[in-house]
Amino acid sequence: MEIGTLEQKHPGTYTFNEVLRLRKSCRGFLETPVPDDMITSVLEDAQLAPSNCNTQPWETHIVSGDKLKELSEAILRVNKAERFTPDFSFDTDEYHDRYKERYFNLGKTMYEAFDVKRDDKEGRKEVSDLNYKFFNAPHLAIPFMPSFGDNVRVGGDIGMYGQTFLLSLTAHGLAGIPQTALGFFAGTIKEILNVPSEFKMLFGISFGYGDPNAAGNSFKLGRDPISNNVTFHQ
Ligand SMILES: Cc1cc2nc3c(=O)[nH]c(=O)nc-3n(C[C@H](O)[C@H](O)[C@H](O)COP(=O)(O)O)c2cc1C
Repeated sequence: MEIGTLEQKHPGTYTFNEVLRLRKSCRGFLETPVPDDMITSVLEDAQLAPSNCNTQPWETHIVSGDKLKELSEAILRVNKAERFTPDFSFDTDEYHDRYKERYFNLGKTMYEAFDVKRDDKEGRKEVSDLNYKFFNAPHLAIPFMPSFGDNVRVGGDIGMYGQTFLLSLTAHGLAGIPQTALGFFAGTIKEILNVPSEFKMLFGISFGYGDPNAAGNSFKLGRDPISNNVTFHQ
């Protein structure tokens, strides 16, 4: 089962096992907007995410329509000018060993899907810029977070919220993608959405109906066997 065949079952009838295995990051959306009541239903699901001390530290903004277009244009502009305003550092050079291997494998798989060669800098940039067009998604969710201490725990809470949101999208027959790439422009995004600067941004989630024919949806990333990640003690 892939994105695009999801509507063959009535949304809401997937088993947990199916939802987990159907979810994947969607890199190509149809323009069709998601009905408001369905967006509300996804938000209500995500609200059930666990958090440290039940602080529920997510202040979620949903951006659609003209505002989303404005956001995309602004991000493409500041990206071109290399005006980055992230709340948190991110350096893929810090990946090492098997983490680095997995990171390289993602890049290879993705650029092959878009038919971009390794040394084609311009082509790679074009693919990367799709992030800033939200992969054509009609909606964007950003769970802004209050700042507590070193923000590691609140960041974990936002991750829990993000995954619950993504799984709910799948269960509703929708698709989404979390995007750290948007976090590089946290300052610009907060300015446009009138979010006070004391709130932080880790990632945004573009969402909508997945386009089954999009090049960006033609692959599914695998996972290592659990023996590579799990240690049992007794
Ligand atoms: C917090 C987070 C941020 C991510 N940021 C991006 C991003 O900026 N651009 C992108 O194309 N994919 C992004 N991804 C998607 C990952 O590449 C993807 O989850 C991973 O390759 C596994 O593939 P899957 O989600 O299809 O299972 C992000 C994923 C997570 C969890």
